[in-house]
Amino acid sequence: MITLQHHPKLTDVAAFIARLNGNSETHIGYCGKKFDEVIDTLKKDFGDLPARDAFLIATKSDHIIGVCGFDADIERGKAEIWGPFVDYEDVLQVSIMLWEAMIRKIPDVIHTVSLFPEDNNKKVMTFANELSFDSISKESVLTCSKETFRRITNDSVINLSSEHYSSFMKLHEQLFPNAYIKGNEIIEGLSEKSTVFGVVDQHNKLLGYLYAEADPEFGEGSIEFFGVTPLSRNKGIGASLLSKGLEWLFAFPSIEEVTLCVRADNNKAIRLYKSLGFTIEHQLTLFEKRLDKSK
Ligand SMILES: CC(C)(COP(=O)(O)OP(=O)(O)OC[C@H]1O[C@@H](n2cnc3c(N)ncnc32)[C@H](O)[C@@H]1OP(=O)(O)O)[C@@H](O)C(=O)NCCC(=O)NCCS
Repeated sequence: MITLQHHPKLTDVAAFIARLNGNSETHIGYCGKKFDEVIDTLKKDFGDLPARDAFLIATKSDHIIGVCGFDADIERGKAEIWGPFVDYEDVLQVSIMLWEAMIRKIPDVIHTVSLFPEDNNKKVMTFANELSFDSISKESVLTCSKETFRRITNDSVINLSSEHYSSFMKLHEQLFPNAYIKGNEIIEGLSEKSTVFGVVDQHNKLLGYLYAEADPEFGEGSIEFFGVTPLSRNKGIGASLLSKGLEWLFAFPSIEEVTLCVRADNNKAIRLYKSLGFTIEHQLTLFEKRLDKSK
């Protein structure tokens, strides 16, 4: 008999996710692949609810066969679904059991949930269709290693200072109106591990920016946002910003790999990423579903 368990041990959850998420056939874009990284996120940096309240596990004969949870963003009314991760012959059956129990745990303020399976993860792709999720976009995850990084000259790139904050916030909103993080939140969170670089013209007007985050504890870095004003494109500003961002991240001794996520049809950006040494690691589909809690 398959049993569902609420408030599971986070080490069990993290071990199960780390085991399945390294395989493209069971990969989900939101979650890490290394046990240490997953457990750290679950314990310290997991949405607006404690992870133990947001996860369920399915067991059979005392063995874990499935895990699913949600990472809630209460302010935006959205949650990212971590899973479903299932290691059992009838994946769909266990996925639906986990889903139905999990959905009852999601607070009413959450109106939309998203799934982010790798396209090769046929089981979760089928699950999304069975549950009538809307397919929102195709996304690519690219990685660049210290060895493949091809640096280019970037003398024009500056560290963003307070005089540029308001134009940065405007440009960020203009280029990424639905971003998971707003410009003011990026500014408030700036630290030695997260930075914004910019390029300005002779009148000190901001022409482009790049926001990067370092995670030296786990040897990783990411380019989170990167854009140039429409009139300033095709002049090499994007390439300079990207090179500077990678240089900054790879200056952390432990960081060997930098990751980013981009829409799969953004050929221009992908060409640029590849020219500096990135390669495509995952092709994923973002799905969303509005929850009707009245049913
Ligand atoms: C992606 C983006 C950041 C690129 O910025 P950019 O400043 O135009 O980038 P570059 O100028 O370095 O390179 C773009 C092209 O211009 C060419 N180029 C660079 N310098 C040039 C010059 N002096 N003269 C002519 N062409 C030039 C590059 O070879 C490249 O050509 P390609 O598209 O044929 O490969 C920009 O298009 C953008 O802001 N897009 C919207 C936001 C976005 O998609 N962000 C990335 C995803 S998060």
